[in-house]
Amino acid sequence: MIMNKAKRLRGEVTIPGDKSISHRSVMFGSLAKGITEVDHFLTGADCLSTISCFKKMGIDITLDGEHVVINGKGLHGLSAPTETLDCGNSGTTTRLISGILSGQPFTTTLTGDASIQKRPMGRIIKPLSMMGANIRSIGDNGCAPLEITPAKLSGIHYESPVASAQVKSSIILAGLYADGITKVTEPTLSRNHTEIMLKSFGADISSDAATATATLTPGNELFGRKIVVPGDISSAAYFLVAGLIVPGSEILIKNVGINETRDGILRALLAMGADITLLNEDRKGEPVADLLVKSSSLHGTVIEGDIIPTLIDEIPVLAIAAAFAEGETVIKDAAELKVKESDRIAVMTENLTALGCDITATDDGMIIKGGKELHGGKVKSYDDHRIAMSFAVAALSIDGEVDIDGADCVNISYPCFYSDLASISE
Ligand code: S3P
Repeated sequence: MIMNKAKRLRGEVTIPGDKSISHRSVMFGSLAKGITEVDHFLTGADCLSTISCFKKMGIDITLDGEHVVINGKGLHGLSAPTETLDCGNSGTTTRLISGILSGQPFTTTLTGDASIQKRPMGRIIKPLSMMGANIRSIGDNGCAPLEITPAKLSGIHYESPVASAQVKSSIILAGLYADGITKVTEPTLSRNHTEIMLKSFGADISSDAATATATLTPGNELFGRKIVVPGDISSAAYFLVAGLIVPGSEILIKNVGINETRDGILRALLAMGADITLLNEDRKGEPVADLLVKSSSLHGTVIEGDIIPTLIDEIPVLAIAAAFAEGETVIKDAAELKVKESDRIAVMTENLTALGCDITATDDGMIIKGGKELHGGKVKSYDDHRIAMSFAVAALSIDGEVDIDGADCVNISYPCFYSDLASISE
């Protein structure tokens, strides 16, 4: 895909549903009794992988546009799949489903694409095994494919070495099938959609932000409900940065989830001098707002510590913002970037360097000396959707063509990304 400079960006964009919340709506709806209806569901490939896995376990799920109806069969209603569950490119599907499967009375194998087969699953195999689960990496390399056979589970208090909502959620979901209480304490609080949504389905779960601890007491049945998925702030991030770096731009980004465990991108961009206004805030349930962004002169900043889990998926596009900001931006405490859909430290460094940016990779982040004029060139997505979208945004403010190799992978989290971007580009 060849991307060119935009004159300016103007208009409104409605962001597709949140990926994390869409996954959970299908998972918890499948484990609940009765009908769960989901509106503004994200139809990206990752969430379709989750639907396909639960269909293979006997759950009736219909998808009509962005409307999903799940006919849940209760906590003990899943049936043994007749084939391997394919989680595609989705780490969330793989890790959360592993927690659920650990508590089932049947054996399953699950796998995913080449990227998933390289991502670390030891981080869930270890705590799930501590709960008594029989889960193993078939290739004995700590990665998928995984085999999970029936076991009796007991609650644990797990002190997670990483702030990861996928790890936390996997353990909590296994906890639904365990004897006794399950607690997960994280080094810093990761996104809390599991805690919020499980509670709304009827689970006895509490979350203490001060100690970054989630506590589940099993025993409650879950009941189907209606869910309206907010727009994904991780997807909105591309429009925020695009609006900021293309001079003369003004974009209204509608109905974006601004949960405080996800809003680090707003805080980081504001610290860089961004002109972003929150409008029409609605704080019932998962909080949402419209975001009005106007082009701004950005300056460098330091992004580190507790904010990192709240913007971990937005770091690639933040690095783009940093490249267009005056002065130095330092991103640290973000070693998790190395185990995402690609090694995002290495890939951002390689691609930004190819466009003339002064960027240095570090062990746990990157240092970007911004303000230097970038030029066109070739970049590679490495089949990582967030890398492709980040460079599509960078291209809007660069003289010369940016050629993105592997641009189609945006389908994972934002199938209509390029047409949405084109709709506001002049
Ligand atoms: C997610 C958690 C994050 C995030 C991923 C979605 C989730 O991963 O990067 O895109 O839905 O729980 P980690 O939990 O590994 O940080």
